[in-house]
Amino acid sequence: MLTTLLATRARALAPLFARDLVVWQRHQGRHDLPWQRDRDPYRVWLSEIMLQQTQVSTVLGYFERFLHRFPDVHGLAAASLDEVLAQWAGLGYYRRARFLHQCAQAVVRDHGGVFPRQAAQLVTLPGIGPSTAAAIASFCFEERVSIMDGNVRRVLSRLLACEADPATTATQRALETAAAVLLPLHADVMPTYTQGLMDLGATLCTPRDPACGRCPMAASCHGLQSGEPQRYPAKGRRLVRQRRENWWLWAQCGDQIWLEQRPDQGVWAGLWTLPLLDSAAACQEHLGGGSMQALPVIQHALTHFDWFLHPVKGSIATASPRFRSQGRWVPFTALAGLALPAPLQKLLKSINP
Ligand code: ADE
Repeated sequence: MLTTLLATRARALAPLFARDLVVWQRHQGRHDLPWQRDRDPYRVWLSEIMLQQTQVSTVLGYFERFLHRFPDVHGLAAASLDEVLAQWAGLGYYRRARFLHQCAQAVVRDHGGVFPRQAAQLVTLPGIGPSTAAAIASFCFEERVSIMDGNVRRVLSRLLACEADPATTATQRALETAAAVLLPLHADVMPTYTQGLMDLGATLCTPRDPACGRCPMAASCHGLQSGEPQRYPAKGRRLVRQRRENWWLWAQCGDQIWLEQRPDQGVWAGLWTLPLLDSAAACQEHLGGGSMQALPVIQHALTHFDWFLHPVKGSIATASPRFRSQGRWVPFTALAGLALPAPLQKLLKSINP
């Protein structure tokens, strides 16, 4: 059985695995990330939510700005959702920002403004899944719990040469069991250990071309012993990516553009965007026959589909009836205060209105 096989392999590697990883992290790991400065759960929680689907290099700029605007959980809980979304704009996956806001309110309302210390309690809060709960509890409170994000799944799949489809629940359970076996015995090294797992996945045990020559685990890695470490994690069921196409109408009336707020659910939930239409003809119709200019296509990759956005720019002299519902005319000077999706921010920058 997979769980037994992986747990047996993990037992043979523990406790040296944890010891070597901790030593490696102290010497070779990352130490200068801003959320590592202290163990304040508010900062660590915020960083973990931002890092869930966004790269470190992108998060760096947002993290400090967000903290400057919302220095503690009370400030965040008291803010309006629109303000939070405006600070989040450009980071993508906006459900995270809604949960962030809800979570801050739950911490203030139900926990007196103090984050719970255990992963089992953290996981009951909005937007905090098991891996994020484990990251916060191990970084801030030295709890012996293991994170299991995409990087760690890859590291452990390789280390233990797990041949099974990583997408199945059975494989995930087996990896979680093995991860628990590998945990350090002494809780005080948990922050270094957890960071070590993340750092190993991000810097050496990368998806393609793993740097096994520099890896502290090379001698014990079953994946490397197989001769093809890059083969792990095994190929699972492939997600078929859809292609979606929309025309994106930039309608300008003097120094104002027409923006519409997206519904609360789905892509860009709650953000302000140009109207999304199905064809150039529909844009023309909206503009009432005025001239329009096609701008270069924008390709935007989301989890399940590639979005091809065809921006079309047109001017209208007076607000036509078509622009009376669902949205509003926004002066260019007011755009900075609105939550806009990243491709729209880029488009706005590329054009001098
Ligand atoms: N990704 C998720 N959490 C992280 C952390 N604490 N440091 C670096 N990358 C991460």
